[in-house]
Amino acid sequence: MNKKTVAVLFGGQSSEHSVSLVSATTIISNMDSEKYFIIPVGITKEGKWLIYNGPVENIKNGDWEKYGTPAVLSPDAGMKGIIKIVGDKAKIIPVDVVFPVLHGAWGEDGTIQGLLELAKIPYVGCGVLASSVSMDKVYTKIICKDAGIPQANYTWVFASDIEKEDTLKRIEKEIGYPLFIKPSNAGSSVGISKATNRDELLKGLKEAARYDRKIVIEEFVNGRELECAVLGNEDIKVTRVGEILSAADAEFYDFDAKYNNPDSKTVIPAPIPAEKEEEIRSLAKKVFKAVDGSGISRIDFFMDRESEKIIFNELNTLPGFTSISMYPMLWEEAGLPKKELIDELIELALSRDNGIRG
Ligand SMILES: Nc1ncnc2c1ncn2[C@@H]1O[C@H](COP(=O)(O)OP(=O)(O)O)[C@@H](O)[C@H]1O
Ligand SMILES: [Mg+2]
Repeated sequence: MNKKTVAVLFGGQSSEHSVSLVSATTIISNMDSEKYFIIPVGITKEGKWLIYNGPVENIKNGDWEKYGTPAVLSPDAGMKGIIKIVGDKAKIIPVDVVFPVLHGAWGEDGTIQGLLELAKIPYVGCGVLASSVSMDKVYTKIICKDAGIPQANYTWVFASDIEKEDTLKRIEKEIGYPLFIKPSNAGSSVGISKATNRDELLKGLKEAARYDRKIVIEEFVNGRELECAVLGNEDIKVTRVGEILSAADAEFYDFDAKYNNPDSKTVIPAPIPAEKEEEIRSLAKKVFKAVDGSGISRIDFFMDRESEKIIFNELNTLPGFTSISMYPMLWEEAGLPKKELIDELIELALSRDNGIRG
């Protein structure tokens, strides 16, 4: 069999660096070594690239940084590979596919995808446009509004305007309390808060402004959190719907509830009426098409606890692969274990038409 060389990128410069280390550990440990030569390439928080060939256990704890060898990914389409740098010598390691297991900025936002397009190396997941649109909550909302996807009432502001009386008044008029405040570009609930009055609004806007120059403000949705997994390029497969139950002491599904609280649970399939499940699955496909997605995405919704209305929240073009992550669990429920899921993702990367004709 023709073994493929797959470079797995992990870590990265975003606030979700630590989540990526866990996701990459899951992915590397589940990749079929009969089918793939794996080249793990870690990116430090500072943005330094290191090839790491040591034990996979040392990825999560950060020790990989001590043993990595400097490397770069060449944008030169003639090289198609990773350049390993040892002293004053450089060695090209040809790569067939890249799996960017990076969450958030500089990983899930189209930047790394742009580099890989230049290098003409196939890669797992969404292309430049789908990645950047999906990373930016304001643009996701604009696109999904145009596609007629139901969403929470929202507005957005520049961080530079948050202390202006007019801005605060407009938010109060258009959205009203309680409301949710989010950096437009972030993830893992970083910088997100709920506000029930002017003081909390200002505090929340300042907090969100630490992460982005654009801030989204949404009406509060008292909803159940439902998620669904998508796999495919033109032909899209959608799983059943899963539900997230935040720990009782968490105010919402925040970073801590997501990764540190053992009482947060996932339920697959979600105990919801069949027609609601179908509605979510069909909206998930619609969202994926609207943003021009490819390969992989997890699409998240709310179901209003009273009206049972389905409301799209966001999509993640590189969903987590931790032990509590919904994306791989949804596929497992659908009869696709991680190993086969990774095979399909790599196949989809190799067969993807990026639309660039030159
Ligand atoms: N409009 C909203 N109303 C109520 N809860 C919300 C709202 N938006 C977000 N949340 C809560 O905050 C969490 C994180 O928000 P989300 O938009 O998914 O951002 P992230 O990209 O950080 O995951 C959600 O999982 C949910 O628990
Ligand atoms: Mg989310």
